[in-house]
Amino acid sequence: MDLAGGREGISQVNFVANMFENGQEILPIWAKAAVSATGYRERLNDQPQRPIHTYRESLQVFEEATPKTGTDGHDVIEELVRKSEPGLHAMTGSRFFGWVIGNSHEVGVAADWLTAAWGQNAGNHSATPAAAAAETIAALWLLDILGLPADASVGFVTGCTMANFVGLAAARGEVLHRLGWDVEGDGLFGAPPIKVILGEDAHSTVFSALQYLGLGQNRVVKVPTDGQGAMIPEAFAQAIKDAQSDSAVIAIAQAGQINTGAFDPLIKIVEAAKTHSNCWLHVDGAFGLWARASHERAELAVGIEGADSWATDGHKWLQTPYDCGYTIVRNGDAHRRAMTIAASYLPSNTEGERDPSHYVPELSRRARGFATWAMIKHLGQDGIAEMVTRHCRLARLIADILAGEDGITVMNQVVLNQIAVHFGPMSEEGDGLTKQTIEAVQKVGTCFAGGALWKGRWIMRLSVISFSMTDEDARQSAQAIIQAWRRVRMA
Ligand SMILES: Cc1ncc(COP(=O)(O)O)c(C=O)c1O
Repeated sequence: MDLAGGREGISQVNFVANMFENGQEILPIWAKAAVSATGYRERLNDQPQRPIHTYRESLQVFEEATPKTGTDGHDVIEELVRKSEPGLHAMTGSRFFGWVIGNSHEVGVAADWLTAAWGQNAGNHSATPAAAAAETIAALWLLDILGLPADASVGFVTGCTMANFVGLAAARGEVLHRLGWDVEGDGLFGAPPIKVILGEDAHSTVFSALQYLGLGQNRVVKVPTDGQGAMIPEAFAQAIKDAQSDSAVIAIAQAGQINTGAFDPLIKIVEAAKTHSNCWLHVDGAFGLWARASHERAELAVGIEGADSWATDGHKWLQTPYDCGYTIVRNGDAHRRAMTIAASYLPSNTEGERDPSHYVPELSRRARGFATWAMIKHLGQDGIAEMVTRHCRLARLIADILAGEDGITVMNQVVLNQIAVHFGPMSEEGDGLTKQTIEAVQKVGTCFAGGALWKGRWIMRLSVISFSMTDEDARQSAQAIIQAWRRVRMA
């Protein structure tokens, strides 16, 4: 394995090109794509965990005038592989810790290939019975695994950004409905105001959802948080108390802060939210909600079942390929009111039948239920529990190794799978050293980690969430980070 060399990806691309040429007669085009993708995944962990090409280099590779005439499909796919592979990031690798990226597990990918090949437009159950049925059953499994009300409604969306959007759309509709206002019909002009309460360290996509819904990013009450990013419960309770009793309130809590993995104190948050007669509590649990699946970690999310809606991702901890997220809403009527699409040419559903498009913003849509169904069936409830527990243990292992090195500070409590690390003094000098260490780690490419500003200091962020990760990956990555830090420190 030559992690530092960096150019070996090119010769592997040539190998793929040969495979396309030689295999042209015997393999259908999508089978060749599958062989190529399999080779890519098999080589991935022996390559630097970063792209070889920058965006600019990739642009140069792709740049050409609009094609006037067509090209043979085999050649198109071969060219796509050749041009893309050097610019792909090792997001499916077992030592990739950037952002919060699941592994796109092979079973989910296989189900998704079938989904694409079957070409189902999964908006309507009578048009695509199997797609709708797989989604309905996968939804029930999700509720069971996450320990949420069995009769809650579930929308299969593109990711947690949209899951937050849908949950908050249902919230907006219901709190206004209770005040006699029909926001779905009459919009927001002239509507009673809604007070939105969230934590200072809420994820940026919650603000995006508020923006899309006309609730505004700035018209919010931000509750102070502790050093881990969790809301201070007394401050949340006060914000609820400050809302007029006859007003509309949407409160947004978080399960799994993006940098620290911290959970808002959910039991107290739910308790305080319930003291207001017209408060809807939504929880953003993009990855943190999956703590509920692990016997060891579930206690972090106790109380969460008392909320009104929840948002999470399949393409994070369930390891489905992109794109896949879930909105879960206790009040199915509010969910459907916010999202239902009706037209005379669309078959109507009868009592007890579920149309996927009634829970999401799109009509035409990919059959996301297949990959979700396949991943839950493959891992099983026990397998999901084992994976979440293992990732949390591996995060702790990396944190402990790093904390043993002089000059490295683990900034968070590592309760889940996120690690926030600072290098050098707690000052601007340390911020600079942290950025340099991140750069040095990325350059070698044994593992990949990004950076972020956290409570005024630069940190290296590590998110342990790749299905295939082992103890050896954890040790190798921690050592690579320590080596990078020592080089930066000595320079
Ligand atoms: C807490 C939280 N909420 C929401 C999101 C957005 O999810 P997605 O990128 O799947 O839309 C993320 C993404 O990392 C997240 O960590």
